[in-house]
Amino acid sequence: MEYRGYDSAGMTIKNSAGLATFKAVGKITELEKKISGKKLEGNLGIAHTRWATHGEPNEINAHPHLDAKGEVAIVHNGIIENYCALKDFLTKEGFKIISDTDSEIVAHLIQKFHNGSFSEAVVKALELIEGTFGLAIVQKDENRIIAARRGSPLVLGVGEGEMFVASDVSAVLDYTKKIVYLNDDELAVVEKDGYSVKNLKGKEVNKKVHEIKWTLDQIEKKGFKHFMLKEIFEQPEAVINTLRGRIKEGKIKLSLDLDLDSLKRVVIVACGTSWHSALIGKYLLEKIVGIPVEVDYASEFRYRDPLVGKNDLVIVISQSGETADTLAALKEAKAKGAKTFGIINVVGSTIAREVKTGIYLHAGPEIGVASTKAFTVQVVDLLLLALFWRQEKGLRPEKNIIRDLEALPEKIKEVLEQSDNIRKLAEKFVNCKNILYLGRGFNFPVALEGALKLKEISYIHAEGYPAAEMKHGPIALIDKDMPVMFIATRDSTYEKILSNMEEIRARGGEIIAIVSEEDKRISKLTKNVIKVPSVSPELMPIINAIPMQFFAYHVADLKGIDMDKPRNLAKSVTVE
Ligand code: F6R
Repeated sequence: MEYRGYDSAGMTIKNSAGLATFKAVGKITELEKKISGKKLEGNLGIAHTRWATHGEPNEINAHPHLDAKGEVAIVHNGIIENYCALKDFLTKEGFKIISDTDSEIVAHLIQKFHNGSFSEAVVKALELIEGTFGLAIVQKDENRIIAARRGSPLVLGVGEGEMFVASDVSAVLDYTKKIVYLNDDELAVVEKDGYSVKNLKGKEVNKKVHEIKWTLDQIEKKGFKHFMLKEIFEQPEAVINTLRGRIKEGKIKLSLDLDLDSLKRVVIVACGTSWHSALIGKYLLEKIVGIPVEVDYASEFRYRDPLVGKNDLVIVISQSGETADTLAALKEAKAKGAKTFGIINVVGSTIAREVKTGIYLHAGPEIGVASTKAFTVQVVDLLLLALFWRQEKGLRPEKNIIRDLEALPEKIKEVLEQSDNIRKLAEKFVNCKNILYLGRGFNFPVALEGALKLKEISYIHAEGYPAAEMKHGPIALIDKDMPVMFIATRDSTYEKILSNMEEIRARGGEIIAIVSEEDKRISKLTKNVIKVPSVSPELMPIINAIPMQFFAYHVADLKGIDMDKPRNLAKSVTVE
């Protein structure tokens, strides 16, 4: 679970003496050091890795949190929004709250209400809570774990003579492939030999047991130094998997539960890297289908009282399928009657279960915090959707794009061969403090994505801009210490990009350029050139994003950063 947060780690084990709790600041290895040599007894426990929201990452704020008597221990994902009011209420009643977290109050509330029935106490506590939670709770006299969810993912793993509760399937795959997904406002009582699930109103819920197809092997590093590098190299395979069965004899095959003719507009919502693929999706759908597309940050869409209705298709893009802002935006769109469509990687994730229809990415598990293969495949899926929609409208098929799409895995392999060259460039620029990324048209979102990749894993400040916008402000920053990464492969904006390069050179700025393999002109302007194979403009964002991923990876590696777990970041952001 560490990719979800690694500010601190902790665990509580129930044994004959009560609840034994261990905590450490930092990664799980720190907790391992703390417990090594200690005699651990018990066959029931809870553990947590934290991504701090309330209170700094210290031991007191680490989970599990216990009530003052040490009778109840909880681990919590999400945010208790009314925790200040509840804290005041508990403090007035004489409860002593020791951490700065919003989570600790849950343990006190349960202990306060515990008067015979453990699960009733939990329900009473949850009735008072506003906000989101994925909770696992133990009590010193009970041989069970209570798990409850609202807005934060939670699954049960069904083993033989053992049961698991986790906030992600990958955590339990080593032990079982049988998974039960909890829904919002459900509470599970989990014992060694089984489980029961009720909603928070006390009604029994019959849950389906899903059989997971992923293997843990798919989540291991397979000899690569980092998950991120492994996932960059997995891109040809990820594209093959997402295309499988979806192109046949030049035709796109998608089975969608959607009346495309009724739609007048598309709105795409997402966060971070997925938002960048959404922007590419806008360019693709508008060009290929001729339908107007708006792109919104999920966090903004949700709070703007968005104008969407039954003739709109709201597409949500999410690798994890658990991003809180994206999920909230999806719910808002559904409430307004819009049709919803998911482009999701994690099968069975909350967003995947909430959308009306959609297409899975089939990229396999993505563990590195920086998204790489999921981005690539998101763009492929958006392209498939655009081509399919065009086909359904009876428009002339885009044969060249379809042909290039089928050849994409081989083209990506050619780009992967550039890793060593790009490392040399990374060596040259590893000490810079800022880098500007510029691109036009399809390559503008790639500039944004390149800048995000670099800043999030190498801690170098980077910004992406449409190349022409440079003259409206950012050009003031250009001097010898501000290199500019141009995405300058051949398309209709090529000549204009060359002029932008000259403008940078005239001001002493150093240029790095991603260029088409046949390009002769740009190597006269700069030595820092990365060559990529030529493809249709619609596929260029994929080909051009890969050198950006390598560049960010190598810079981070040269700086000695563990880019699989960059500071302050978590792989899925399950809080708003
Ligand atoms: C950046 C990155 C994030 C995610 C964002 C959305 O490399 O990975 O910006 O793209 O947090 O996550 P998902 O796609 O899981 O909704």
